[in-house]
Amino acid sequence: MRYAGVPDRLAGLGSAKWEVHLRARAAKAEGREVIELTIGEPDVPTPPELIEEAHRAMLAGRTGYSNGQGEPLLLAALARRYSARRGRTIGADQVTCLPGTQTCLYATFRTLLEPGDEVLVGDPMYATYEGLIAQTGATMVPVPLRAERGFRIDPADVEARITPRSRVLFLNSPHNPTGAVLRREDIAALGEVARKHDLWIVADEVYEDLVFPGVPFASPLDLPELAERTVVASSISKSHSAPGFRSGWVVGPAEFAERLLPLSETMLFGSQPFIADMTAMAVSGPPTVAQGMAERFAARAAMVQRALDGVAGLRVHRPEAGMFALVDVRATGLSGRDFALSLLAEREVAVMPGESFGEGLRGWIRLSLTVEDGLIARAMERIAAHAARLRENAA
Ligand SMILES: Cc1ncc(COP(=O)(O)O)c(C=O)c1O
Repeated sequence: MRYAGVPDRLAGLGSAKWEVHLRARAAKAEGREVIELTIGEPDVPTPPELIEEAHRAMLAGRTGYSNGQGEPLLLAALARRYSARRGRTIGADQVTCLPGTQTCLYATFRTLLEPGDEVLVGDPMYATYEGLIAQTGATMVPVPLRAERGFRIDPADVEARITPRSRVLFLNSPHNPTGAVLRREDIAALGEVARKHDLWIVADEVYEDLVFPGVPFASPLDLPELAERTVVASSISKSHSAPGFRSGWVVGPAEFAERLLPLSETMLFGSQPFIADMTAMAVSGPPTVAQGMAERFAARAAMVQRALDGVAGLRVHRPEAGMFALVDVRATGLSGRDFALSLLAEREVAVMPGESFGEGLRGWIRLSLTVEDGLIARAMERIAAHAARLRENAA
């Protein structure tokens, strides 16, 4: 039988990126004690009061069909939260609730992009971005993110890649995998470029609440002059340690929400009212779960830096947010992939090769900060020993 081209286009993008992770899981299944620093999942359970709220809502009959935009109670809670945080009125008619940031971005790109359009996106990038763009038939235009700029995207690098087909500037701040956080000045300068070339700004802010203590968070929604062209997606996956609930939202101009609605209705016919009630509770309270994580991950990032920076030529890039730290392993003479494969085989530590996130991280590895301190310390000793041995062999 014949199939459309989209599944093939997407299938080619995923599996190779997860090679080391899958090998680590296979080794664990065979009984080997691998320290797994590959994927990042929140290190605490979903708060019981949120689970209780979902349970209460289910028992109270909140199990019927919803509508394509979202439950009014949750739309209002999100409008309040964004108005308070962004310092200007954001209405419930500007919000759409969908299952997770991932679905929000998928539907947003379906709403904004035609085949042949171009999307400018920082490289390295989160593993699913290539597929999110490819599903629309649009072309991804990678914009190199440079370590010496703290991996914050440079407006001049964006401008240099603009063509008549450029349509969307796709931002991710706080950024996965680099942990970079855009400053207000960065966003203002990027906004100038977007206005000059009439681009949409689509921002993935799923790590907003995981900014490390003392680092300021800024959003394109802060700037009223960008309001007509800004779409922000987020969820409770990271902030409330609740990825399995698949509860996210997208905030943009009211017209954007209107245009998105038929797509949301066609795909989903509405999401679950009991999850909406739970999410409304989550987004109405202070982000205490996320703050705890941000403090722990910041401390572990400092541990990684103390343990590895300058050891056997390794360089640590200290993140400002999120769940990961990056290490430059080029001094060992290996690619990120070869370093990660040999580290797993010889020292039973699993890390992600930088190459899984784009060409910009060739020769780097990414470490997850979501395992407990003792394991991080052991893993750092093994990585340091591995790098030292590789350097000796290369000498
Ligand atoms: C940058 C980024 N965006 C989106 C997601 C997915 O978020 P959600 O669970 O809300 O779909 C992740 C998950 O790791 C992520 O790192």
